[in-house]
Amino acid sequence: MNNLISMRDLSKQEIERFLDIAAKIESGELRPDISRKLAALLFFEPSTRTLFSFETAVKKIGGETFSMIGTSSSSVKKGESLHDTLKTISMYADLIVMRTTIEGAARYASEVVDIPIVNAGDGANQHPTQSLLDLYSMVKTQGTLNNLTLGLVGDLRYGRTVHSLVQALKDFNPKFYFASPAHLRMPSSIIHDLKEKNIQFEEIEEIDSIINELDIMYVTRIQRERFPSLEEYEKVKDSYVIDVNMLDNVKDNFKILHPLPRVNEITKAVDKTPYAYYFEQAKNGVYMRQAILSILLKAI
Ligand code: CP
Repeated sequence: MNNLISMRDLSKQEIERFLDIAAKIESGELRPDISRKLAALLFFEPSTRTLFSFETAVKKIGGETFSMIGTSSSSVKKGESLHDTLKTISMYADLIVMRTTIEGAARYASEVVDIPIVNAGDGANQHPTQSLLDLYSMVKTQGTLNNLTLGLVGDLRYGRTVHSLVQALKDFNPKFYFASPAHLRMPSSIIHDLKEKNIQFEEIEEIDSIINELDIMYVTRIQRERFPSLEEYEKVKDSYVIDVNMLDNVKDNFKILHPLPRVNEITKAVDKTPYAYYFEQAKNGVYMRQAILSILLKAI
């Protein structure tokens, strides 16, 4: 494996390898070493978790990083193309982690340079490193990825994390409830894939009637930055607010995941319940990203 661009590209065996390596890194059984390797972190869109957990992951296994955050201090500001920027950076770094607003930019990068590319989010398209840490969080909390019932809640149209996650689970016999406002539904291309693969799913608007069936509720932020107008965003921004009173009869193994950042779709009171797992989920990102770096840099 040379790049990590989309969950569509990964087989079940490859996903299981990422999970296995992450678990061994967390337990201390594996200690990969990427000393003398340099990772370029190119973030043309804001990030807290992905940027800092990659930086943490690189350093924990002995590597070093340099970063380009935004474009204001680079020669992109002078009109340099993405092509030339990537080509140049590939002359210095051993691997590029990149986040952009442009769907397909990571795939393009992988065709332009000869070093591994990790897609850290390309517009509303894909966020595969998030999906791998989401799967790792599911294995840790559920003991398995097989036969889970999941409710994906919020912005399913623009949410790249849910697009990746649905594809990541395709070989594990999931049952999905897709809960969203009517015009933030899962894209038709993903619905088409699910139908082709005979994966169970139901599109709904209310979650009260299904919450007690779920193993995992995966909540997402309504993404203001991807709406064509503020007015459109205002209409749907508070469509779902998860509060403790909704959790009275959930299953014992029930967990709430959220890729974060959260705005107000989960109340702070929920953080104190045994069902909240989103901050541990963010921590799991460090183990998974060490696994991703180790595999792509062939350090294990
Ligand atoms: N989950 C996630 O991608 O968070 P950041 O945008 O903070 O990186």
